[in-house]
Amino acid sequence: MDKIIIKGGNKLSGTIKVSGSKNSSLPILFATLLTDDECKIKNVPVLADIKTTVDFLNFIGKKTTRKANIVNCEKSSKLNHIAPYDLVRKMRASVLVMGPLIARLGKVNVSLPGGCSIGARPIDIHLDAFKKMGAKIELKEGYINVTIDGRLKGADIEFRFASVGATENVLLASVLAKGTTRIINAAKEPEIQDLADVLIKMGAKISGAGTKIITVEGVEKLHGFTHNVIADRIEAATYMIAALMTKGEIILTGVIPEHLQIVIDKLIEAGSDIKINNDTIIVKWKKDLKPINIRTEIYPGFPTDIQAQWMALMCLVKGNSIVEETVFENRFLHVCELQRLGANLKIEGNLVYIQGVKELSGAPVMVSDLRAGAALVLAGLCAKGKTEISRIYHLDRGYEALEKKFRKLGANIKRIKG
Ligand code: EPZ
Repeated sequence: MDKIIIKGGNKLSGTIKVSGSKNSSLPILFATLLTDDECKIKNVPVLADIKTTVDFLNFIGKKTTRKANIVNCEKSSKLNHIAPYDLVRKMRASVLVMGPLIARLGKVNVSLPGGCSIGARPIDIHLDAFKKMGAKIELKEGYINVTIDGRLKGADIEFRFASVGATENVLLASVLAKGTTRIINAAKEPEIQDLADVLIKMGAKISGAGTKIITVEGVEKLHGFTHNVIADRIEAATYMIAALMTKGEIILTGVIPEHLQIVIDKLIEAGSDIKINNDTIIVKWKKDLKPINIRTEIYPGFPTDIQAQWMALMCLVKGNSIVEETVFENRFLHVCELQRLGANLKIEGNLVYIQGVKELSGAPVMVSDLRAGAALVLAGLCAKGKTEISRIYHLDRGYEALEKKFRKLGANIKRIKG
């Protein structure tokens, strides 16, 4: 397996273009199953998860190809309703195949995705919603079989938790349902809004995307679309933190600053110099940062996908800070790896107490999940000596051209084929 080797200590400086959003591209790719027409999606990041989804769409019967950052879906005819374990286990977002296929075919058999390193990640909220829309759910031999006679029926669906995936799945199912669906306590992430924009381009009738209540008037048919995916707010925030950890200055272009407002506010509160100009953010280290606590929350709160990266930042800030994780039940797997690099961290339940240290020192570390991997790269960029990061296939799922971008900014980073 490949590894990343980093020789820490270089200040990062320069300009990088932020890639398209992974978490927006994925639901939009699944939305192509809602029409037989051609679809074109631009600004799609080149990532392992995108390849997995393109393979998935081809398996289901939507002929899909990717060329650089553009994905094209051809006219389709017959769709297959079975999503096998070997595809679903690779990427949990595959459960988003359910909404479109129940809406189009009235049936779908999806392998239960199983848990992952950051938590059990059940899909009860998704399934309860489909039941409310008239579907029958059966669990058999590790598969979820969802069926409905005729069309899904619009319904009022109140989520016990503002789940991103469940909001996306119900949007994907309700656009072709009979009648009106209201999602109450919907997730408000920018990726939800981007998906709704695509569905509206396809002819769907949606209002309230980005707020707590989304209303969908079902229609008979949807047509093809062309869409430019929004910028990846998580990638942008990761590079902003990298600039500050290495006491450098980075210019990020192609960003949507308001999508990461809370992170910008927290970085300013910590004492960094941040200038915003349309789709450009300039992050500059000007003085030692102050320790700042964070508590992860649903959007527009502090993103759980930036929790690990923030922890890495606070490891090198003089003083004590606390990170509280409220979204996932087991998202601290990066703690023991950061401790191997010399960080002073203590886990207590869903809190991590951080005592800033003067410096980190390089060591071999292992990636457990995508964002934990990002935190280890950030720490390696600052650690004295060499840091060797293994299991970087997690990183390839969510960061486009990671080493290339960091090398362009002056980092001493390389990938060794394993
Ligand atoms: C999306 O995952 C993102 N993935 C995650 O990003 C992100 O961390 C998460 O939203 C929260 O923002 C994609 O968009 C592909 P959830 P998702 O449903 O939809 C519980 C990354 O690094 N829950 O909002 O799976 C669940 O267990 C990834 O890019 C239920 O209990 O997130 C979790 O504790 C990691 N039952 C919490 O809700 C359900 O039916 C948040 O899950 C659904 C969720």
